[in-house]
Amino acid sequence: MNEAEIPKELFEHTKELAERYLIGTYSRYDVAFRYGVNELLFDFENKQYIDFHSGVAVTNLGQADPDIIEVVRTQADKLFHTSNLFYSEEASKLAELLILNSFPGKVFLTNSGTEAIEAAFKLARKYAYSRSINDPILLSLENSFHGRSVSGMSLTGQDKIRKGYGDLLKGIEFVEPNNEEALVAAFERYQGRIVALIEEPIQGESGIIPLSKNFLTLSRELTAENDALLIFDEIQTGMGRTGTLFAFETTGFSPDAMTLAKGLGSGFPIGALVVAEKYQDLFTVGSHGSTFGGNHLAAAVAYETIRIIQTREVLNNVNVCSDLAFSRLNEMKERYPVIADVRGRGLHIGVELKIPSRPVVEACLKAGLVMNSTAETVIRIMPPLTISPEFLNQGLDIFESVLKQN
Ligand SMILES: Cc1ncc(COP(=O)(O)O)c(C=O)c1O
Repeated sequence: MNEAEIPKELFEHTKELAERYLIGTYSRYDVAFRYGVNELLFDFENKQYIDFHSGVAVTNLGQADPDIIEVVRTQADKLFHTSNLFYSEEASKLAELLILNSFPGKVFLTNSGTEAIEAAFKLARKYAYSRSINDPILLSLENSFHGRSVSGMSLTGQDKIRKGYGDLLKGIEFVEPNNEEALVAAFERYQGRIVALIEEPIQGESGIIPLSKNFLTLSRELTAENDALLIFDEIQTGMGRTGTLFAFETTGFSPDAMTLAKGLGSGFPIGALVVAEKYQDLFTVGSHGSTFGGNHLAAAVAYETIRIIQTREVLNNVNVCSDLAFSRLNEMKERYPVIADVRGRGLHIGVELKIPSRPVVEACLKAGLVMNSTAETVIRIMPPLTISPEFLNQGLDIFESVLKQN
């Protein structure tokens, strides 16, 4: 098809159908994309956009990666799905690759981040009841985000996500991120009852708020001393986003469990709960399950995604582009008082503004740059890990030109 011949009305029709038939849980930007190539997206009128969003940190290898396409084609020709009641070459190989690249243990495969969180939550509960702790406490952090199911919302430390659904799950307490005294106090207050502490190493949805090295180390020490699971939610920070395959790698220790999704499938839905050896047998036959989790197609794509990250020097590109982005954004911070803060790691970058971020994101979109507004005033910059320095610079030029007008 000649892309130039797409009638303009098709976009208007698409919008009308969405308004009429899709339940309105999203505040959509006024665009639809038809195709993409690595860091570029194209709308219905063939207008080009530089992608600083990656579908919320999902398309970490950009759009239309030839090796990912090849794997999808080859696997689709063979098998999409059988069932977790049978062995699967693809799921077995993926689990091995995840373990070889994280920490010794086992993997439970899911379809999404929320389901990986659900599995982690159930694991912590199993752990509690296996130790006869009948009033267990799970610690989570204020401002955290762990998904939209009831357990995900219950673990999420943000009222705007929780409100409107009545009582959520009991036995979850929240600690202020990076407040070491508060963490120590929580372990003292609930001594003998805390079975897990769940943390995003860098809080994503709440505006790219990194946990300090000291806070992370203390989290590891306190959970170890108290026989509690340290669960890292790496759904957003994992898969190379912060410059290492997993963010925990820079801490000098590993968690007891880790949730993954988003970039794991390069856009194909898949998630995973990785569980350390000590806890790997808590789930027994029949105690958890999923129809689709880690089906042949999803597992094949995830395996290839990890292989590409490892063999194509993707992480090197993250670090080169990260240096470039931080140096330009910090310069902008000096020049434009509207920037309050620049933070993050790798290509997981938050620019906090002194004004609402959504209008800035909308202006950037008009000018051909896709970004994300979160936490009211934060711009989240998460380009594909494969972005070229040239397009990164061009995208930052657009951002700067919009900032100049504010
Ligand atoms: C840290 C974190 N945990 C959990 C989730 C939920 O994942 P999903 O939307 O795939 O269910 C997200 C999604 O944004 C996330 O960023």
